[in-house]
Formats: sequence, structure tokens, C-alpha cells
Amino acid sequence: MKTVLFHPEKDHTAIQEAAAIIRHGGLLGIPTETVYGLGANALDETAVLHIFEAKGRPQDNPLILHIPDAGWLEKYCRDVPPAAYDLAERFWPGPLTMILPRRDIVPLRTTGGLDTVGVRCPNHPMTLEIIRAAGVPVAAPSGNLSGRPSPTTAQHMWEDMNGRINGIVDGGPCTVGVESSIIDLTVNPPRLLRAGGLPLEALEEVLGEVEIDKAIREKLADGEEAKAPGMKYRHYAPKAPVTVVTGSPMRSAAYIAANAGNGSGIICFDEFASLYHGCTVHTLGPVGDVSEQARRVFDALRTFDSTDVKEIFAQCPDEAGLGLAVSNRLKKAAGFHTVDVGRPLVIGLTGPTGAGKTSALRAIESLGGCVLDSDAIYHEMLKTDMPLREALTAAFGEVFLPDGGLDRQKLGTIVFGNATELEKLNQIIYAHIPRELHRRMDATVAPIIGIDAINLIEGGLDTMCDCTVAVLCPPEERVRRIMARDNISEEYARLRVNAQKSDEFYRSHCTYTLNNTCATAKEFQQQAYVLFQGLLQEARR
Ligand code: TXA
Ligand code: MG
Repeated sequence: MKTVLFHPEKDHTAIQEAAAIIRHGGLLGIPTETVYGLGANALDETAVLHIFEAKGRPQDNPLILHIPDAGWLEKYCRDVPPAAYDLAERFWPGPLTMILPRRDIVPLRTTGGLDTVGVRCPNHPMTLEIIRAAGVPVAAPSGNLSGRPSPTTAQHMWEDMNGRINGIVDGGPCTVGVESSIIDLTVNPPRLLRAGGLPLEALEEVLGEVEIDKAIREKLADGEEAKAPGMKYRHYAPKAPVTVVTGSPMRSAAYIAANAGNGSGIICFDEFASLYHGCTVHTLGPVGDVSEQARRVFDALRTFDSTDVKEIFAQCPDEAGLGLAVSNRLKKAAGFHTVDVGRPLVIGLTGPTGAGKTSALRAIESLGGCVLDSDAIYHEMLKTDMPLREALTAAFGEVFLPDGGLDRQKLGTIVFGNATELEKLNQIIYAHIPRELHRRMDATVAPIIGIDAINLIEGGLDTMCDCTVAVLCPPEERVRRIMARDNISEEYARLRVNAQKSDEFYRSHCTYTLNNTCATAKEFQQQAYVLFQGLLQEARR
């Protein structure tokens, strides 16, 4: 069969010729805002049969009807609820398919034997004109061969369907890029069967509660029934195994960089494209632009077909807005093989000097965790962090030396012995440290992070922690330890111990207390390990 390519933009008879194909029972590739569709007269059983044949699609997977406006709903659906008109009013033409009870005029062949029918009004002027000119609803699945990614350009459609169908209408690249959202209005509450181009949040604004079908987020168990028959079929899967990595973009990027090898395929956000040397990289768009990610997701997947990558890693947006649809398409391509580098468990550690905080931090490291020493970070920031340096200069005058280093003596004479100035310094420090802590937390894939800060509570760093742990130890023992550790006199050691906050202060402000009465540091580290391991297990549940 010769496949004609129509260009309505250049050729003013194209729309009529394309509509004639539909009227005469032929197959036509049609552009929509979501993906290209493989259209035929939905009321003509033979034409519909040809759709299934051309796509290689199982006959029990129903097709949706494309109509030019909500006025056509009554012709093909029964018992149309007011909610359907509310949705049509707000979102049609647009990327939303509604499932409604079917009228007998719609052949069972079209609906895969179901008593319901999916209907949508696509937002593409050429296709709307073609449907009106044809005068019949157009049944159209996505225009890919079954098992391939949905086509988002006429070129994609041509690759899959040249020689199998009568024509393809070139309406330019799809502006949405993922298929329509499907909402089943025959159940209460309405159920989202497929996450697509219309965000769930938009549906909830009109419908209130919406149930999300399990198949959107998880792989169905063998024998479990999909509410949208299409969701049960394996979707496009590249030849190489795909791993989808969820979690904050920095953490998923770090995970992929650590696990991808030479010759891996990578689907990533634009910001991280340069991280993966020796890999084949396809970008999804910027982290913050999920619409762009939706437009590109199928193309990124499709492109790997012409490469010989051995494995593919994909970064994945979170589920807000269109992210639910993008992550669903990626996860389906991965057979739901996902790794969640989620967010780490953040534990704040504090306590008086000499109590054994260092051993507790070692325990965090031995759990694969990462320790952030707020004091060390402050000293690094003094060298490199402009906002902090500017704030200090504004508050205390020029406290930096010509070589850029901090003039400790000068700052010291201002703040020591002057409680107000010292308080001012602390406020500046603790206003700036969280920024750097967050940056480092984002850049690690460690499952657990320990923030080490003497002034954890006073500086307000506890608010960025999931929980806080005070490391305490009887004062007499601390005196002995500081003397040995810092090689100082008993008198001086006592002075330092007495200058610190009381155990009661730490106990009342921290979530947990670790009492160090152990004979050895090793023993105490083991005690801390048990606590942190338990917290980590709890956080993962
Ligand atoms: O954006 C779209 O919806 C695109 C463009 C071309 O309009 N079309 C599309 O069609 O994605 P298709 O056939 O690839 O996907 C339609 C999905 C299938 O998963 C099918 O099982 C489901 O809708 N579906 C159709 N009728 C249904 C019904 N009566 N009940 C439940 N699910 C239905
Ligand atoms: Mg499809």
C-alpha cells in the first residue's frame, strides 16, 4: 500500500482528501496535541479491524473515539453525567479521555467488547477539521506499532506505518508529547486509568476526589486485572534493560554517575548531561520544565533503538503535575525496574565536648552514611562563600585580610567578651550554613547523613534534621577524657566542661539521647550503630 503524506499547511485540498480516506474506510495517521494517532471511522467494523492489524494490536485492547466537540457525546454515550460536561467545558479540546457507558451504535469491535467507550476531543485544528469533514467519530490509538513508543512527529509515524496505511497528515511535532489522561466516569469516585497530558491536580479541581489506578505506579501482579486494558500490555521497552532512578535530581544524577559504565545509555535532565563521559546521553529537558520532559520522553526512548548501549539509566521527575505521566512512561519502559535514591535520613548530632560525638559519627559512616561537620563547613565557607563574607563585612567592618583570609584576631576582639556581638556573629553563621548543608546533602547518595554541630539547637540546624541525637556522658568522665585528648590540666578541663550547656538542655531538646558510659570508644560506637541502624530501618518503611 502506498502511504500518502499530507501537508495541509501547504496544500489546501489535503484536509478534504484526508477526510475522504476516513469516510471510505481507510487508515489515516492524524496529528494531535498528545501523540500521533492511527485513525479510522469508529463506526465501521472493517476499518476498525484494519487498525488492529496495521498496529499488530491485540483485539481486546479498546480504541478511543475522537470527536470535534462535547455536542457529540450524546450520540455515542449513555447516561452522560454532568461532570463529563464540566470536564469538557474546562479541558476540551485537550489531552483528556473520558470513559462513559457505550451506545449500541459504537461497535463492540471498537471497544474491545466493553460496554463502555473512551471519548476525547483532541486539540489540533487539522484533526478537528478532518473529523468534522468526515462526519464520523474517528477511532485512533497511538500511531506506533504495538510495543513501540508513541510517535510524536509525522516522521516517527512514517517509520512505523509507511506502507501499512493510506496516509499520514503532517501537523508538526506534538505539543504535549504524552498520551491523554484517561478518567473513568462510570465509577465513584472517578478513577484515573492513565496519567497523561492533563495533570491529576487539574482533574481534582473539577471532580474532587479521584482514585488513582494501581497500574499507573506499580507493575501489576500476574493475573491482576488492569482497568484500562492497554495498561496490562508491556509498553515500549528498549532492547537494553532500563533502570529508572527516582529521588532528588542531584542524588539521582550522582547515583547514575557512580553506576553507569562506558557505553551505558543515559536519559537525564539537561543540567547533568556533561557528567557522563563515554555514555550515550539523551536529555529530557531542564529539571524544572516537566512540559518539555513530556514532549521529549518518547523521543529519548526511541532514539536508543539505533544504538547498541548495553544498559540504560534514566533520571525521573517527581510525580507532581505532568511528572506523574512522564515517570509512568519511563517506568513502563523499565518494566518498573526502579531505584529510589529518595532523600537521606538526616540526623543532627550534638552534645558537650568529650562525650563521644566522634564515635557516634563513625557509626554513621560505617552505615554508608556521610558526616557533615558544620564547623569545618563554616571555615570553608569563610574562604569561598560570597554571601557569608559580605554579611560579615556588613556587620563587623573589613574583617578579611588582603589575601582573602579571615582576620581572626580582629573578629575575635570584636566578639569575645561582648555577648551582643557574639550573638550577632552566631546569627550570621547559622543563617548561611544551611544553604551549604543542603547543597552537600543533595550531592550525596548516602542513605543517612549526620550533621555534626555543637550549636545544633541554638543555631536552629535541628529544623533541617529528621531527628536529633544528644551524645552525653558524666562530667567527671568528660574531664578525664578531655585531659587525655587535648593534653591539658585538670583545672582547665573542668573550666571547659563547666562552661557548657547542661545535660538537661540537650535531653529536653533532642529526639534521642545516647549515654556514653562505655569503657571503650569502640563499644560506644557499637551502641550508636544500633540506634542509627534502627532509625534507618524505620525511615525506609
Ligand atoms: O492521547 C491519546 O489518547 C492518543 C491520541 C492518538 O489521541 N491515543 C491513545 O490511544 O493513546 P491508545 O489506544 O494508544 O490508548 C488508549 C488507552 C488504552 O490503554 C486502552 O486500553 C484504554 O485507553 N481504553 C480505551 N477504551 C477504554 C475503555 N472503554 N475502558 C477502559 N480503558 C479504555
Ligand atoms: Mg498507545
